Amino acid sequence: SNDELRDRIQAVRDSLGERLLILGHHYQQDEVIELADLTGDSYKLSQLAAGSDDCRVIAFCGVHFMAETADILANRPEKLAERGGERVRVILPDMAAGCSMADMAAIDQIEDAWDQLSEVIDTERLIPVTYINSAASLKAFVGRHGGIVCTSSNARAAMEWAYERGDRVMFFPDQHLGRNTALGMDISDEQMPVWDPYAPDLGGSTEEQLQSSKVILWKGHCSVHQMFKAEHVAMFRKQHPGIKILVHPECPREVFELADESGSTGAIIQAVESAPAGTKWAIGTELHLVNRLKQDHPEQEIHFLSPVVCMCATMYRIDLAHLCWTLENYAAGNPLNVIAVDEETAKWSLVALERMLEVR
Ligand code: 13P
Ligand code: SF4
Repeated sequence: SNDELRDRIQAVRDSLGERLLILGHHYQQDEVIELADLTGDSYKLSQLAAGSDDCRVIAFCGVHFMAETADILANRPEKLAERGGERVRVILPDMAAGCSMADMAAIDQIEDAWDQLSEVIDTERLIPVTYINSAASLKAFVGRHGGIVCTSSNARAAMEWAYERGDRVMFFPDQHLGRNTALGMDISDEQMPVWDPYAPDLGGSTEEQLQSSKVILWKGHCSVHQMFKAEHVAMFRKQHPGIKILVHPECPREVFELADESGSTGAIIQAVESAPAGTKWAIGTELHLVNRLKQDHPEQEIHFLSPVVCMCATMYRIDLAHLCWTLENYAAGNPLNVIAVDEETAKWSLVALERMLEVR
C-alpha cells in the first residue's frame, strides 16, 4: 500500500539524511509531490540541481531529459572539485519516463539537417536554441555550435541572446514554443519554415523559404499541450463570462493567442496564487498540476481547459513503488536507474546550459 511505501521511503530518507534530495516536477502525481523535498518547473529544478551542495544522490521525479540535465549541472567541474571528485548520482525512478517531444529531435536528424542547411544558408550565422526538453546529445550539439538552451520561462531571453550573435535562429524541438516566442518578439513573419526531419529534402521547405526567414522551427510538439484547441477557449468564454484563460506556451498558436495569460508551469502557479478569491480560470496545462491547483485554491473557480484528459503519461510513470524500489536499492549499495551523461556530451551541454543560467 502507499502508506507502507511512504514508511519505507522515509526509512531510506532517515538513513541517508542530507545526502538524499528528492526533486519533483509539478506534473508529478500528488503522492510523489508530497514526498519531494523540493518541487519546481524545469527551470527551477535545473537551478536546484546546479546549486546542490550536501546531497550525493538526487532522486529525480520527472522525465529523462531533466535527470540528464541534473547530472550535468550537479557534476560540473567546479562542483566535482568542491566535493573532492565525488559524483552526485542522479536516479530516475522509472527508466521508461521519457518525453515524446524530446524524442522527436534525434541527434542524427539534427546533424543531417545542419548539413543540408549549410548548402543553402550560412550556418555560422545560424544560432541553435534548444528547449531544455531535449536529449543531452542535442544540448551538446547546441553548445558546440554557439547556441543556448532555454526553458518555457526564459525562451524569449534566450532567443534575444541568440539574435545578438547571428542572423537566424533554429529552434528545437517544440515548434509551438518557438513560434509563440518569435511572434511575441516580432522578429519573424507569419510563416516560419518548420523543418520536418522525415521530408525528403530541406526539411520540406524551399531554399527561398529558408533563406528569407529569421526563424526556422523544428517539427516537434508536446503530445499533452497540443490537445488544447481554440474551440475549448471559445466554449469556456461562452459558458463562463469573465473567465480567464491561462495556458502553457507549448500550446498551439491559436490557443496561445486567444489566452489571457501564459507562462511556464511555475508562472501558472504564481498567477493563480496571486489572484483574488473568486477568480475564474480555465487552465491549459498538464492535468495533475491543474487538479492540484483546484484542490489548493478552493477560493477560486478552476477548470481544466479541455473536455478530454490531457496528462503526461511518462511523468505519470513515476510512482511511490518505483521511488521506493530505487531508493532502497541505492541505500543497499546497489544503485539502479542511474542517469550519467558521458563526459564529452556533458562538457558541451554544460556550455549551452550555463548560457541559459546566465541570461536569467
Ligand atoms: P516547464 O516545467 O518549464 O513549465 O515545462 C513544462 C513541461 O512540459 C515539462 O516537461
Ligand atoms: Fe514531454 Fe509534454 Fe510530457 Fe513535458 S508534458 S514531459 S513536454 S510530453
